[in-house]
Amino acid sequence: MSVSLIFSGMQPTGNLHLGNYLGALKNWVKLQSQAKCIYCVVDLHAITMPQDPKELRSATREVAAAYLAAGIDADKHILFNQSRVRAHSELAWIFNCVARIGWLNRMTQFKDKAGKNRENALVGLYAYPVLMAADILLYHANGVPVGEDQKQHVELTRDIAQAFNSMFGVEHFPLPEPMILGEATRVMSLRDGTKKMSKSDASDYARINLTDDADTIALKIQKAKTDPHPLPDDVKGLEDRPEADNLLTIYAALADITTAEALGRFAGKTFSEFKKALVELAVSVLGPINAEMRRLKADPGHVDAVLRRGGERATEIAEPILKKTQDIVGFLKD
Ligand code: AMP
Ligand code: TRP
Repeated sequence: MSVSLIFSGMQPTGNLHLGNYLGALKNWVKLQSQAKCIYCVVDLHAITMPQDPKELRSATREVAAAYLAAGIDADKHILFNQSRVRAHSELAWIFNCVARIGWLNRMTQFKDKAGKNRENALVGLYAYPVLMAADILLYHANGVPVGEDQKQHVELTRDIAQAFNSMFGVEHFPLPEPMILGEATRVMSLRDGTKKMSKSDASDYARINLTDDADTIALKIQKAKTDPHPLPDDVKGLEDRPEADNLLTIYAALADITTAEALGRFAGKTFSEFKKALVELAVSVLGPINAEMRRLKADPGHVDAVLRRGGERATEIAEPILKKTQDIVGFLKD
């Protein structure tokens, strides 16, 4: 199936990092030349964990600024914050009455996020993937670029679409494809190559934030964990060397080459030589994004206007699809 409409989103929870950039944003930017794209700051998803309202507002603006700074074209495509388009919540309710408890019980992200005290987790956290299905299907999107960790949610979206269609005997919702793109589908912590780089890691040295300046990026890369051996000749030599594997994958993704090609440049070299090159590359890619984010931060009115206009355009696409869905379900409208 060829992808004609792409939808993806990210939570406004601050601390956007290199994993978000390489695993998501960078791919989203590229896809703009291939299909119509709708990119969302998913603030409804953010409140599935307790949020401070002031911080939520500021993180929503910051994430939108990161999208723009990375190269999302909000004129040709659509960029908005989820809560602006009421249809997301309305369709999610309908899908709550399509999805099965057994399906949600299998979601690994809920298990991770709810932790040990599952009885105390918010109902919204449990229903999170149902809202995500609504995000995607509300636009009849058929391509969903995400990192590896979100694949299970896109598969659930397919199950919900299929269940809705068969429940009502219609061919209303398409079955979207997860698009796992690029070399760096799982960027790992700089402190521990077996752990995912994450915004919730207690150590700021575990990740490179998109807001880090050049000196901070250099320091974090210099301090990144390595092993005592020189870099190997081929990709096989990276097995059982998670930190080396991670740093080379980061280099490859930033340079837009494969990990094997990156190894071709550094085989036999020491980490200190390699790290110098990695710092230079990371600063050259992330520096301009960081500068543009700072410029946009100083002009929140501009970011707000982009989101408002994006919300209006998203609503235009979403409303007829929601209305049709409500009609299929049997709700009396006008
Ligand atoms: P999150 O920060 O978990 O809300 O994720 C936002 C997007 O970034 C999703 O598409 C994730 O799959 C992607 N992402 C988050 N962390 C990483 C990582 N360490 N490596 C690759 N992609 C990531
Ligand atoms: N759950 C995704 C994440 O944590 C964010 C998200 C919400 C999303 N709705 C979506 C991603 C729809 C793709 C499509 O990263």
